[in-house]
Order: sequence, then C-alpha cells, then structure tokens
Amino acid sequence: MEIRVEKTKTPREKPDFKNLGFGKYFTDHMFLMDYVEGEGWKDARIVPYGPLELDPSCMVLHYGQEIFEGMKAYPCDGKILLFRPEMNARRMNSSAERLCMAQIPEELFIEGISELVKLDRDWIPTEEGTSLYIRPFMISTQNGLGVHASKSYKFIVILSPVGAYYPEGLNPVKIYVEDEYVRAVKGGTGFTKCGGNYAASIIAQSKAADKGYTQVLWLDGVERKYIEEVGTMNVMFKIDGEVVTPKLEGSVLPGVTRDSCLKLLGEMGIPASERKLSIDELIEAYRAGKLEEAFGTGTAAVISPIGELYYEGEKMTIGGGKIGPVSQKLYDTLTGIQWGKLPDTLGWVREVK
Ligand code: COI
Repeated sequence: MEIRVEKTKTPREKPDFKNLGFGKYFTDHMFLMDYVEGEGWKDARIVPYGPLELDPSCMVLHYGQEIFEGMKAYPCDGKILLFRPEMNARRMNSSAERLCMAQIPEELFIEGISELVKLDRDWIPTEEGTSLYIRPFMISTQNGLGVHASKSYKFIVILSPVGAYYPEGLNPVKIYVEDEYVRAVKGGTGFTKCGGNYAASIIAQSKAADKGYTQVLWLDGVERKYIEEVGTMNVMFKIDGEVVTPKLEGSVLPGVTRDSCLKLLGEMGIPASERKLSIDELIEAYRAGKLEEAFGTGTAAVISPIGELYYEGEKMTIGGGKIGPVSQKLYDTLTGIQWGKLPDTLGWVREVK
C-alpha cells in the first residue's frame, strides 16, 4: 500500500536524551490508516503528531475495543534495528481476533512502523539503556451506542524516545503480591494486549504504590494461588538452579521478551521450564534458601530484577539488592542482540530499510 507522507512544518523540541523517563515525549510524526468493513485497510499516511478527532459517540470511548503493542527501535552504526517485529504483528492480530477487531496484514504492520521510524530517525536515542519505543494501537471508530463489533477501525503508531521503564533501572524493584484483585481468567482477555486489562489493573497498582511497592504480581483469577505475571511484564524465578515461568494458559500475556529469554536460556544451557507455579511453592523455596533470582521480562521493562516480594505479611528479599547472574547474563545477551553488538544467530533482528 502506498503511504502518503505529510512532513511537519514545526518540528518539536527534542528532550534531554540523558533524562527521558518512559513515554513522556513523542516524535514529530505518527502513522495512521483506516479500516472499513467490506473495503479493508486504506489511506495509509504519516502526518505530523497531533490530536485525533473522534465523535463523542465513537465506540472505543464507551466499550473499549482497543488493543496495542509495545516494540523498540535500536540504533546500530547508522542502521536502525527492530527486534522480532513479526511477533508483535502476530500478537496484535491475536488480540484483534479476541476483541472482534480487524486483522492487519503482517507486512503492512511492519511497513507502517518502518516508514515512520525512518522519518523520525533523529529521535532515536543512543545513550546506554535508552531506545525508541514504538506504540502501535488500534481503536474502533464506528459511532453509536449499540454494543457490537465496530465496522470501522483506526490503526495508529506513535514513537517515544525512552529510558528505563522503572526509575530503578537495572536495580531491583519491589513487588506486591496482589491477593484481593485479579487481572484475568481463562476465557477472558488476559492473553491479549487490550487497554481494558491495564485499566482493571490500576487499582491494585495504586494500592501497591501506597505501600511503597513499584508493581503488582498477579495470582490466578480463580484460586488466587498460581503466579501469573507482573503489571507490566512477565515474570521468571530461578529456583534451585532452574528458571521457572508461568505457563501460557490463556490468562498470561505471551511476551516477546519472555519467549526470547526462554530461547536464550536454552542456548545458554540453563534449565528453564514453563509450568504452574504456586505462591506457596515460591514461599517454600524462599524459606529453604532455594529462591535464587526473580526478574521480570518485557519490551518496556527489558530484564528487571525483583529484589523484594511482599505477600500476606511476609517480605521475601531476593538477591541482596543486586541483579542476579542469570538476570544479568540475559540482559547483556538480549540487549547485545537488539543493539546489533552480538551475533544474531537466531535471526531475530530486522534492519529498517
Ligand atoms: C511493553 O512492555 O511494551 C508494554 O506494553 C508494557 C506497558 C508499558 C504497558
């Protein structure tokens, strides 16, 4: 599809790339295209970044048919690299299927992103620990108050130069194990990246923040017994020499970083398994001195060590305030591949041309 480009006449002021935080600044342009049932995707365009005009009855504002993705672009000797973008395209379509939204052809998804990133390449930060965060998302755009699948959608991509997601950076974060609210149940939308999952999580996140914790660790929605994921990342634990992460059974997000870490652990010869892990088993391992490392994985979070878990009155401190050796090795290998500094033996990196 041809992409129409309208360049900005008023370029935005660039932020201090050494002090970016996460998701606070946006680049000069955005990518959009529209879908109409019976016609397909059309009017692909890159235009100056700015507000959207929506009718107040627009369905997304009432029933929340909205899905998104998180990706990053990395600089490498004058080239721009994307990391496994086809995985994001596929997950976007799996979210779209669950929410009865339009499918986007994989190559069109990647082409729109690539053209936008090329145009705004001056916004890609190069400092250690920074990157250009890519936020593709889709909203329903039909007007009206009846509850049904929309007949029209808008796909949009915005870009944000970012630093670490958590202010802690690579220092361990403190996590509150949530035992009252739940995030997802099998048969629901837990495996999708829909805005509603995050909207429902905010109450627990605020509760955790009030108690001095950075994030929430979710337990399963039925028994509140099995570990699922952290608010903004998947989670892995090294127990007695083996890395364990919750199995994907419909309520956990199939993270691209999660999948990449499992494959890298395999390459490194470090035992890893995807299985059910109860909070009781984790506590038992902790008490027996066998909980060696805990860390989150995510596009925004990269590898984020967990230094403390709080569950029903008990504090579990892990790793003595430092990142563990396996977490550090995963971080170095993953970011090394993403930045083109290590050989891409698994064929994960795609140059934006
Ligand atoms: C990501 O890791 O890209 C995410 O989408 C997590 C988040 C900031 C909601």
